[in-house]
Formats: sequence, structure tokens, C-alpha cells
Amino acid sequence: MDKMSRDEGLDLTLRPQSWNEYIGQEKVKKNLQIIIGAAKKRNEPIEHLLFYGGSGLGKTTLSHIIAKELGAKIKTIAGPTLEKVGDLAAILTSLSQGDILFIDECHRINRMIEEFLYPAIEDFKLHLILGKGPMARTMDLELPKFTLIGATTRLALLSAPLRNRFGAVFQLEYYTEKDIEKIIERSAKILGIEIEPKALNIIAKASRFTPRVANRLTKRIRDFAQFQNVNIITEEIASSGLEFLDIDKQGLESGDKKILEAIILKFDGGPVGLQALASATSEEKDAVLDIYEPYLMQLGLIERTPKGRVATLSAYSHLGLAFKEPKKLI
Ligand code: ADE
Repeated sequence: MDKMSRDEGLDLTLRPQSWNEYIGQEKVKKNLQIIIGAAKKRNEPIEHLLFYGGSGLGKTTLSHIIAKELGAKIKTIAGPTLEKVGDLAAILTSLSQGDILFIDECHRINRMIEEFLYPAIEDFKLHLILGKGPMARTMDLELPKFTLIGATTRLALLSAPLRNRFGAVFQLEYYTEKDIEKIIERSAKILGIEIEPKALNIIAKASRFTPRVANRLTKRIRDFAQFQNVNIITEEIASSGLEFLDIDKQGLESGDKKILEAIILKFDGGPVGLQALASATSEEKDAVLDIYEPYLMQLGLIERTPKGRVATLSAYSHLGLAFKEPKKLI
């Protein structure tokens, strides 16, 4: 099983199924409850929604809760898997009134398919083109009134015509440490393991303010405890478990440290451009943008300037290195 599907499996058992199980994102939650409550009163499907924010912050989880609250079916697809207009047509024509179509990574939908999506979400119509050349004819096909929920980690990459067709747009933010503690506490209960309050805090601090990471760490540290024949995660087990997993107190892993070290040691603290940084660390540009950079910026270890990324004073002290002023490029 690859890493992704393992995490998906984990998500299925730990993922909250209803609003009262869902911790954090209070503002988004309230707004969604209003949208759902009002649409139910009108007996109408809800408007199309767009969620954006870092990976693991709950875009899929929220969409499933919305479907459950509405008693609607949800169909999930990832933007890049739509290769032909026909792929989308097949999905759209299989929907029923009120169903939810969840498109993950919707910034990566192919442009031609995206244009085909516009009339489908705006007027619930499929514009079919039959035949080619001078004999080509168009035909409109009525679609049931469904709701599109789009999810993206990169709002800026979404085309304006698509973005403008969503009735509401919500940003999912990093969770607070307190909320991550509550999520870990809930997950530990479901996983059947006790956890000491201090251990809870240690794991929360290493969870990158992200529920998916918190749940993954809780599972790994449960393994670590049970391997030693104990069914309680103590402070000591949490700390030694993280150390064993090569994750530091603030949740930095080897990949994050590689990025920091590259900026400091290979580029004199920066500024360094994205492409150069990705090449120097043998990482994909997308991984730098989506995974490493947001968290390193959240911790104040790097900053993005118009000239590129720079390491902050905290980054040097985090790695135990002497600080050097970033180069001034005039
Ligand atoms: N597991 C993952 N995300 C969660 C959340 N927001 N609340 C509770 N449990 C979760």
C-alpha cells in the first residue's frame, strides 16, 4: 500500500462524521451550518462551494459532513484524473438532484474540461458537440441540480471564471495547538489507547497544526507504545517515539531541515528562488510550495521576499548555526 492510501484508510476511522465531532475551523463551520440550514428550509440544493487551504486541513472531511447533513450522495474525483471531456460528461450524467460532486485539486483540471464544466455548474446544462467540421451540431442536455464542492491548495492557480462560479469560498486555516490536542484526544479514544496530558501536548506541538499529521503521529506513537507492551502514551513514550520517527519537537522532518540547510549553507541564507531551492534539495517545486514552505513560514523559520526565500534568525538557531545577514540585492 502506498503512503497516500494508508493515510486515507486512517482517515476513514478517525474522520469526524458530524458537526459535533468536528473540532476547529469554527467560523467556516458556522457559515456552512447557515448555508445548509437555509437551503434545507427552502428545500433546494446548496450553492457550489470552494474550499482552499493546505493539505490535511479537512477539505474532504468537511465535504463528507456536508453531504451527510444534507442526506446527499457524494461523488469524489481528483481534478488531474479527468483526461477527456467524456470523463466529466459520464460523471455529470450519473448525478441525481441534490448530489454533491467533490473535485479535489480543482486547480489541476485541464482547461478544455474546465470550459465544459462552466455551463454544467452555471445552468445545469451539458453543451455537447456532435460530429466534426461543417457537419458538427451542438446539443444541450439538462443536468440535475447538483452541488459542486471544489477543493484546492492553491487558490491563485484557479482560473477566475471557475472561481467566480462558486457561491461561497472558504479558507481553511492551520488549527490551534489546543484544537489539535482535542483532535488527538478524540483519536486516541477511538484507537483504544490512553494518553497523558503532557504527551498530548508533545504530539500536538509536532503536528504541524494539521489534523491529518496529528492523527498519523498518534497512530505511529500508539504502535511505539504497544510494541513495548504498554497501553498508555506517556510523556516519555511520546518524546522517544518522535525521536525514533526523526521528527523534532516542532514537527520538522528531514525534508524540512534539508530545505533550511540548503537556504543557509548553499545560498548563504538567501534570497533563493523556488526553482534553485527545489533543484538543490532534489524536491519537486510543488512539494516545496505545498508541503515545506507553508509550515516553515508559519513557524517563522523562512520568509518569502520578492527576490526569493530567506532564512530567518530563528532558522539559524533552530539548526544551531551562527546567523549571517541575508545578502542585500540591489
Ligand atoms: N480528525 C481530522 N480532522 C478532525 C477534526 N477537525 N475534528 C475532529 N477529528 C478530526
